Amino acid sequence: MTDVTTLPPRTPVDQGGYAAVLDLLRGGEVAVLTGAGMSTASGIPDYRGSDGRRRVQPMQYAEFLADAAGRRRYWSRAYAGWERFAAARPNVAHEAVADWQLSGLLTGLITQNVDGLHQAAGAAPVIELHGSLDRVVCLDCSACFPREQVHAWLAHANPTWSVHSEEVRPDGDVLLPAEQVERFVLVSCPVCRSDRLKPDVVFFGGAVSRELVDQAYAVVERARALLVLGSSLQVMSGYRFVRRAAALGIPVAVVTRGGTRGDEQTDVHLDALLGDVLPSLADDLTRGAAPP
Ligand SMILES: NC(=O)c1ccc[n+]([C@@H]2O[C@H](COP(=O)([O-])OP(=O)(O)OC[C@H]3O[C@@H](n4cnc5c(N)ncnc54)[C@H](O)[C@@H]3O)[C@@H](O)[C@H]2O)c1
Ligand SMILES: [Zn+2]
Repeated sequence: MTDVTTLPPRTPVDQGGYAAVLDLLRGGEVAVLTGAGMSTASGIPDYRGSDGRRRVQPMQYAEFLADAAGRRRYWSRAYAGWERFAAARPNVAHEAVADWQLSGLLTGLITQNVDGLHQAAGAAPVIELHGSLDRVVCLDCSACFPREQVHAWLAHANPTWSVHSEEVRPDGDVLLPAEQVERFVLVSCPVCRSDRLKPDVVFFGGAVSRELVDQAYAVVERARALLVLGSSLQVMSGYRFVRRAAALGIPVAVVTRGGTRGDEQTDVHLDALLGDVLPSLADDLTRGAAPP
């Protein structure tokens, strides 16, 4: 699933900003916080884009909880988008971050993404602030199932239901006409029969686990610098780490197209595509580490 139309426009890389980010990384002990911009080159669109405007109205948690109609709307659209979403592969930016982590340059990797592409590139551990679409949990008995399995149950329950869509949206779903949503059959939890099966992600209006937030704060607090990659920082659950770093006097560097909500706390903002920057940073770091 490669679709370059999900990328924001290209822009020249500022050499001063590039050198500053390289310096921070050379020093090691960097905390990395990533957002949807990491995965646009893998064909998964971001929410806001470089103009900062939200293009997509994501599912609200209250709507999912309210009734079966909300859950039918979610699952029909997510079912229709799953195969394309699951086919996304990591890009050069995910590979660079995984290399830095394996080389011991990072205090930790925190992501707001739910696509699993950091892990697919070999990164570990990854703090997934908003969970992951490849797991499904039962809200009533807490049983957890692989998404592939739930997808197979849904396919079995909907043998004649099909949809063809080229466009997958940021949450891995597609837009569908109301009559198609209404014909979709939900499946229930095989353990307790509840129909409240939910992807293991934090919907808008839901809360991020306190434990994960504390782990992520710890990653930031022991860092020499915080590096933000591909995030508008409009969502508080990511922005709070920038605020914490700034409050502690830890320098903040941002590599993201367009402005962010953290502009005031940012020491270096490299406004460029990650694909134009991260592979060269990775090369320069390797060169710097080689014996003379
Ligand atoms: N891939 C995913 O898992 C995914 C995708 C969309 C949204 N989300 C969710 O939506 C929320 C949105 O917040 P966010 O800040 O992560 O995303 P966002 O959509 O608000 O911001 C993305 C930012 O990245 C920039 N960008 C896009 N492609 C880029 C590239 N190739 N190089 C450099 N910059 C690029 C955009 O200009 C924008 O500023 C998150 O909570 C996340 O859970 C996840
Ligand atoms: Zn259950």
